[in-house]
Amino acid sequence: MGFCPQCRTEGSVREVSAATPGAVAPVPLHEALTSEARRIPVGLAEFDRVLGGGLVPGSVVLVGGEPGVGKSTLLLQAAASVSARADALVVTAEESVPQVALRARRLGLRAERLFVLAETGLEAIVAAIEDQRPAVVVIDSIQTVSAMAIAGGAGGPAQVREAAERLVAVSRRLGIATILVGHVTKDGLLAGPKQLEHVVDVVLSFDGDAELGIRLLRGLKNRYGSTHQIGLFEMTGGGLVEVADPGGLLVDEKTLPAPGTVLFPAVHGRRPLLVEIQALVARSTTPQPRRSVKGVEAARVHQVLAVLERHAGLELHHRDVYVSVVGGIQLRDPAADLPVALAVASSLAGHPLGGAAAWGEVDLTGRVRSDPHAERRLLEVRRLGVNATIHAGDGNLDGIRDGLVAAGLEPRHESRNRPVPAGV
Ligand code: TYD
Ligand code: MG
Repeated sequence: MGFCPQCRTEGSVREVSAATPGAVAPVPLHEALTSEARRIPVGLAEFDRVLGGGLVPGSVVLVGGEPGVGKSTLLLQAAASVSARADALVVTAEESVPQVALRARRLGLRAERLFVLAETGLEAIVAAIEDQRPAVVVIDSIQTVSAMAIAGGAGGPAQVREAAERLVAVSRRLGIATILVGHVTKDGLLAGPKQLEHVVDVVLSFDGDAELGIRLLRGLKNRYGSTHQIGLFEMTGGGLVEVADPGGLLVDEKTLPAPGTVLFPAVHGRRPLLVEIQALVARSTTPQPRRSVKGVEAARVHQVLAVLERHAGLELHHRDVYVSVVGGIQLRDPAADLPVALAVASSLAGHPLGGAAAWGEVDLTGRVRSDPHAERRLLEVRRLGVNATIHAGDGNLDGIRDGLVAAGLEPRHESRNRPVPAGV
């Protein structure tokens, strides 16, 4: 251009190269490997397990959960734990500093290197982070932060996106591990834009069963680890307490003797977790019977129902079927098929299973697949005093009918060799 477009002074514009050399230089992989190895452990084993060994500097973790589940409590405890080793900053955009202090006192947190900032303005928050450069930052919550430059109130898609992008940028630039708290709406969706999940490196969900007081932290996305791990906590008067050995915590002793309940030693990561699966089969009053599923994948339950109908002769098509997992846990273990099938058959027959445990993935032909975690599951149920087990690889159990027979739930008709009518 050669002159300033505002004051028209000649020769006032200097040419610079936008691509400054170092900024685009490739990094030796081994250097990147050592920075990845420098994880910052939270210091709460259940939290670190889900992260895959701790927080990665320069990364951003989103923790989503419904209001009241305990997100602020969890992250205050996490920040306090981190602050035993490194500077941590909690930005509270929902509570005042005295409120946070009061909670910290109630939780008995001693934290000399934990800083609290009550602020909702994005620019001020970023400035404070740049100024203090802590190792770990918690933003509670991303929906209550807003940028002046963006139109619209806090919590709107444009504001949430801007806040997340700016916080990701500052975390990357300064090598800070940032944890964003995100509110989840009643239907389980993270409030704000879906892009939020793409912008961050790790997405965790914090949920649980209000009645049992159990809280589960699990990974939905993790660029630095598996998403099969879950962390278990119990909400107590003194905050969240880690549950290292869940034992029979996710089993409701009161409902176990009823028809329609089966124990299932699920495997999450490498850890077995004994849960209770419940089913209710009821006469339907609508032409389109209801299928309500909680805690297991609905598509798998539909498949199991079809297999029971087709290969074991159970009449379910005109009945409502409800399946749920006690404790608010979301199972992703395919071996839940057989216990789901047995719970449904048990409810249909009105015949209790007497606290038996079952596992096995069922395929479309009604066959129960052999299970790679059988040993681990068996050890866990024995440890917890469960003696009756129904599972694949048990010698004479290879089909879903055998499972029903083993459970004392004789199917009504022989279907294995039944001729298939034309047109089916
Ligand atoms: P909170 O962390 O504020 O939830 P969120 O940030 O997800 O909205 O905690 C919510 C509930 O937890 C609150 O209703 C009271 C309960 N609680 C306890 O039972 N014990 C405690 O020590 C604390 C701090 C909270
Ligand atoms: Mg909160």
